[in-house]
Amino acid sequence: MAARHLLRRSKETTTMRIGILGTGNMATVLGQAWARAGHELVIAGRSTPRAGLVAKEIGGSARAVAADRLAAESDVVVIAVLWEGLDDALTLANAPTGAFAGKTVIDCTNAVDFSTGMLKPATSAAQHIADVATGAHVVKALHLFAGQSWLAADEGESKTVAICGDDNDSLDITAGLIRDLGASTAVIGGLDHARQLEDVAGFVMAVVASGNNPASAVPSMT
Ligand SMILES: NC(=O)c1ccc[n+]([C@@H]2O[C@H](COP(=O)([O-])OP(=O)(O)OC[C@H]3O[C@@H](n4cnc5c(N)ncnc54)[C@H](OP(=O)(O)O)[C@@H]3O)[C@@H](O)[C@H]2O)c1
Repeated sequence: MAARHLLRRSKETTTMRIGILGTGNMATVLGQAWARAGHELVIAGRSTPRAGLVAKEIGGSARAVAADRLAAESDVVVIAVLWEGLDDALTLANAPTGAFAGKTVIDCTNAVDFSTGMLKPATSAAQHIADVATGAHVVKALHLFAGQSWLAADEGESKTVAICGDDNDSLDITAGLIRDLGASTAVIGGLDHARQLEDVAGFVMAVVASGNNPASAVPSMT
């Protein structure tokens, strides 16, 4: 049975049409978690039939659209593709020609070499999206926790999702959607902090690869 917090939509957040660009694991689990919280899901990727399968797996009113319709049919867009496919996916969604202009775009990608924990690009993935997706209000969020954890009935664990971005309304929208996943948020600054947030994911992976628990590798400040 789903955790109670996943079934309760926060009072502050209204139902949103959440568009997810991506048809992999992250799209599926985030879609399921937000659908449980009462949101509408719109799924797109490089294969619309595959997006249809993901929408079916999410259930409820989730539906697939062609990638070039995603922004128009969504209140907020979540980017959930591999770093290697990011530019192709953004192009399919017409992001470079302004389809995302004025929209909140939540970037959860990890451009990390999983074997070393080092970031692949010289810039941050989120800043790259902001550069490519003309006029988008990009927020870095949700890249650190395993997607599956948003579906787990972990009533005992409280998560804080660190996020950053330059647009206050988009930070508020993102915080509301994260609340609906059962977590709180910590805004750590503007999008110029994205690389720092992305590096934390690399750090966590490197500590895990060393056989240790990342929670024991940072000081407790309480
Ligand atoms: N899974 C997690 O727990 C988790 C947690 C936090 C962050 N993330 C990040 O979220 C992103 C998605 O992860 P995932 O687990 O969903 O990965 P995944 O299951 O491997 O799915 C990858 C997605 O990227 C797309 N893709 C790959 N190459 C592409 C290309 N050349 N052009 C267009 N699209 C391409 C795939 O499209 P097709 O379906 O068409 O192949 C698919 O939609 C990654 O950046 C990952 O680091 C994942």
